[in-house]
Amino acid sequence: MRILFLGDVVGRSGRDSVAAALPGLRSGLALDLIVVNAENASHGFGLAPDMAQALFAAGADVLTLGNHAWDRREIIPYIAEHPRLLRPLNCPPGTPGAGAVTVDLADGRRALVLQTMGRLYMDPMDCPFRATAELLAKYRLGGTVNAILADIHAEATSEKMAYAHSFDGQISLVVGTHTHCPSADAQILPGGTAFQSDAGMSGDYDSVIGMVKEPAAIRFWRKMPGERLAPAEGPATICGVFVETDDATGLARRIAPLRQGGRLAPAMPEPMGAP
Ligand SMILES: [Fe+2]
Ligand SMILES: [Fe+2]
Repeated sequence: MRILFLGDVVGRSGRDSVAAALPGLRSGLALDLIVVNAENASHGFGLAPDMAQALFAAGADVLTLGNHAWDRREIIPYIAEHPRLLRPLNCPPGTPGAGAVTVDLADGRRALVLQTMGRLYMDPMDCPFRATAELLAKYRLGGTVNAILADIHAEATSEKMAYAHSFDGQISLVVGTHTHCPSADAQILPGGTAFQSDAGMSGDYDSVIGMVKEPAAIRFWRKMPGERLAPAEGPATICGVFVETDDATGLARRIAPLRQGGRLAPAMPEPMGAP
């Protein structure tokens, strides 16, 4: 299965760039599954229903959220009716929406997509490790599902690495989100799980993690709230991770970072791939 995951879409720049690029990426990379983190799509804070619709219409199969899941309250009734929009799995019991969904491809193959949220330097949550283990007990990679993708939305690289190694061989791709900076550690772990500790954001990198830089910087100089933060609206770099998996085992054959447009040095996976 050929999977593309794109990191945190920030503001209009990120939304428009991702929506414009997805059809070409789907055909150019012959993608079977596209998953996009959209927790910052609405002005940097949350996701509005019309924005979710636009990303689905552009070709996203599943959208994930994170700590900004509920910043736009209109998403609360929407998520209850749209199972392909995920909030973290390890939210307290009774939280609207779900943290995982299975996607049936047109050719009969099936993928499981899940999101969890880390706990280091983040809001208190249930244990992401135990929540994932409980979920995975219901599926068999290479059996009941051909691929499993896990978005670990977390601040600390250590927690993301610990998570990936804990499930090495049980998940096709573990990809981090939330830091808004793509990490240069794409690899296939010894057990066959593809891993990159952060996908990076899809937004304007002439910014402080996607927000206009001056008001964001002044907050570090003066320890008091300043001007309201707004997303930077320059050209976006779309950032993500491409993975090709073996349908029989569900394990990764290839992982390659993707960076397109904007300011960051570009990276595009080879469509057919070097062995
Ligand atoms: Fe984010
Ligand atoms: Fe986040």
